[in-house]
Amino acid sequence: TASPIIAPSILASDFSRLAEEVRAIEGAADWAHVDVMDNHFVPNLTIGLPVVQSLRKATSIPFDVHLMITDPQRWAPAYAEAGAYNVTFHAEACDDPVALAKTLRSAGAKAGLAIDRDTPVEPYLELLPYFDTLLIMTIKAGFGGQAFMPEMLGKVRDVRRRADVNELELRIEVDGGIAADTIEQAAEAGADAFVAGTAVYGAADPAEAIRKLRGLAAA
Ligand code: DX5
Ligand code: ZN
Repeated sequence: TASPIIAPSILASDFSRLAEEVRAIEGAADWAHVDVMDNHFVPNLTIGLPVVQSLRKATSIPFDVHLMITDPQRWAPAYAEAGAYNVTFHAEACDDPVALAKTLRSAGAKAGLAIDRDTPVEPYLELLPYFDTLLIMTIKAGFGGQAFMPEMLGKVRDVRRRADVNELELRIEVDGGIAADTIEQAAEAGADAFVAGTAVYGAADPAEAIRKLRGLAAA
């Protein structure tokens, strides 16, 4: 697998100081993971396009936008146009994932597909060539601070096997409960991009927490 991507989730940061919180991870992290929730696809509500547009001007770190929203066909392209590096939408919310992936790529972004806890990955393995990122939730989407579910790693292994056999350039991302005590098993299963909210922003020194996670993921 490629060298690990560490993507701290700003969901666990102080939203009243968002720009500073993102800058605090700028040198240490690869991507800033931005969780967009609409109180519809998931019961929680976070931030949307205006905040992402403003934040984009405040930092140079690539944005990994994770859309936990209904009707991503309608809303996702605007995040690509706002300068997101990667835009990930949920398989459960989209009836034509390939069409939306193509739209995102023509808007200049990487395209990501997310698989929630209760969704099997098999039906989507055929679609992997259309995506740059495949995000496997290791919790049920909706809230930070939940416990990592090792039983999701079978999906990571299935995607890793298919990506390797077909020689795909695909990032396999895990999201939910990733911390020093869980990141190694996720890496061992074949993940090479790691979202961490609480483990980074809950740490006394976020940059140091990122370095530690990176070392564990690369081992
Ligand atoms: C939850 C979000 C996650 C969340 C992870 O639905 O997609 O990105 O911020 O938080 P932790 O790392 O605390 O589990
Ligand atoms: Zn997320």
